[in-house]
Amino acid sequence: GAAELGPYRHYMQKEIFEQPRAIADTLQGVTHICPELFDGESASAARVFKDIDSVLILACGTSYYSGCTAKYWLESIAKIPTQVEVASEYRYRDSVPNPRTLVVTITQSGETADTLAALRHAQSLGMTHTLTVCNVATSAMVRECELAYVTRAGVEIGVASTKAFTAQLAGLFLLTLALAQSRGLLSEADEARHITAMRHLPTALQAVLALEPQVIAWAQDFAAKENALFLGRGLHYPIAMEGALKLKEISYIHAEAYPAGELKHGPLALVTSAMPVVTVAPNDALLEKLKSNMHEVRARGGVLYVLADADSHIENGEGLHVIRMPEHYGELSPMLHVVPLQLLAYHTACARGTDVDKPRNLAKSVTVE
Ligand code: G6P
Repeated sequence: GAAELGPYRHYMQKEIFEQPRAIADTLQGVTHICPELFDGESASAARVFKDIDSVLILACGTSYYSGCTAKYWLESIAKIPTQVEVASEYRYRDSVPNPRTLVVTITQSGETADTLAALRHAQSLGMTHTLTVCNVATSAMVRECELAYVTRAGVEIGVASTKAFTAQLAGLFLLTLALAQSRGLLSEADEARHITAMRHLPTALQAVLALEPQVIAWAQDFAAKENALFLGRGLHYPIAMEGALKLKEISYIHAEAYPAGELKHGPLALVTSAMPVVTVAPNDALLEKLKSNMHEVRARGGVLYVLADADSHIENGEGLHVIRMPEHYGELSPMLHVVPLQLLAYHTACARGTDVDKPRNLAKSVTVE
């Protein structure tokens, strides 16, 4: 009821602000990396991790985008070939099964029909090594997978997933480190560095949440638009996709995401002053390339809304709105950059007066096909 909302207007806003707590709880007690973090009822992750040569991630909706982010981590840190596929596609197509693949399902509810069916399909093809990153310990998905990491985001009520997403990313980052370790690719120094960065996440998230007033100012502009484009590169391309999904789910603004390097192969034709372009611009190896993509947008009159790092050297200007992220966060940066995008969708939807927690035509958990 309303009492549980406390100072918040909607569950979605409350859940966005619960993220520091959700991540702290999800990482509670993790003082070092070991396969046991992923043990199932009767299966040892140490044994399974030694027996695999690749990863296949299956999920739907927002959970699919956390999987897309994890692919970058798994290939760059654990050096393990990774595929990510939408569960409803995988379950109905002919694919080439590899019994040495670790099938990873990602699901907040653990009850999504397509994701469960995709798991069972993989099992029927002889892929017995299965692991889920799931927010509900008593769910069908946790029961049916060999291994599990149960996130502790807590009950999520808003149909548009927020805290469950960042909690999944925390679980998937741990999985990446555990697989890197089992493959001899995680030095003790790296392990310590990653653990320190993970422990600092709740504080870092708090600092990002404090940017809310600046995001509200952006939302006033977005509320009057009917289209938006989200750009990202590398690790932040999936974050651009998640930002676009959030905006369309709850504000009903048409939004799509592109990897910024593809701009010239199509979406540039759409850019006018009526099309805001959100750019996720952390100070990483691709920043200079991203800046040239931004110039292409400006040259066509497009208006840029940029999430930049403290040291990105991108300044506010004509047609260029910058929100500066508090700190540079390396590999874990997607977990922070998604937060302003959640807030942007939330405040844009509020400004348009939509039913934020129960958007039209959507369900929290899709348990029938
Ligand atoms: C529905 C929800 C989404 C969610 C998706 C997958 O579409 O509206 O927020 O991401 O299902 O749900 P799951 O419980 O499997 O993560």
